[in-house]
Amino acid sequence: MRNLSEANLTQTVIDSMKEGQDARTKEILTSLVRHLHAFIREVRLTKEEWLTGIELLTAAGQLSDANRQEVILLSDTLGITALKDFVNHGHAPGATEYTILGPFYRDGAAEMPAGASIAEGIPGEPVLVSGRVLDGEGQPIAGALLDVWQASGEGFYDVQGQGLPDMGLRGRFRSDAEGAFHFRTIRPSSYPIPFDGPVGQMLIATARHPYRPAHIHFIVSAEGFEPVTTELYAEGDPYLESDAVFGVRDSLVVKFERREEIEDGAPDGLSAPYYHVTYDFVLEPEE
Ligand code: BEZ
Ligand code: FE
Repeated sequence: MRNLSEANLTQTVIDSMKEGQDARTKEILTSLVRHLHAFIREVRLTKEEWLTGIELLTAAGQLSDANRQEVILLSDTLGITALKDFVNHGHAPGATEYTILGPFYRDGAAEMPAGASIAEGIPGEPVLVSGRVLDGEGQPIAGALLDVWQASGEGFYDVQGQGLPDMGLRGRFRSDAEGAFHFRTIRPSSYPIPFDGPVGQMLIATARHPYRPAHIHFIVSAEGFEPVTTELYAEGDPYLESDAVFGVRDSLVVKFERREEIEDGAPDGLSAPYYHVTYDFVLEPEE
């Protein structure tokens, strides 16, 4: 390791890595070194630029705690999270696509009866969400669990300290014998991801906005099937083409259809005018 040069450094670093406790770690680090070295060669990274990157990563780490994960946000806004999800969640044709979980999921939402509202006491435009949970053959899955969460009409989650009730806009529902589910909520709004830190600086530096299109989050699970973490996006939202975290998939864009009068079969407590969203979740069998 004495006659090191730009030409032989990468291979020298790779050769220095022995197989430690598991072969996979060596495989990952070898590839990481190869790609990072190639990146530095490609852009001819200067000392000042290297330091800018180090400062950004340091600030992202220092800002992260139990309530804020700036490093994951960096991964989200650079498309790393979305690519990791594509690599890990290929889906059969027709199955519901996986998309980003995000930082606002909370375990432990209350299980509610069909037709209940996750927005009790929270102002907003009424929405009825209904659909079915099906297998790949179109057969109903009874007893599937739908864990639902979303932002308010002002674009805030309960955890963001904007006066929403604790666990507001969160709930769990079960599909019935026909695989059907329905619940009430309010129309979510598009909202900015946290942009007062290094991720915000990166967005500004690349002339990007911090917004996510309006969406409702779901984790749908059932015994014998792969759970799917996903989101339904509102058609017509101005940020569908430029989601700050690259979570939108065509198959997950739904209409919020305006209804001037209550439809037959609508649950008690719904008031017109309201929006009706329908979507059938299709789960893949467990591997
Ligand atoms: C969300 O949709 O809740 C979200 C996803 C990624 C980053 C920030 C928020
Ligand atoms: Fe969200």
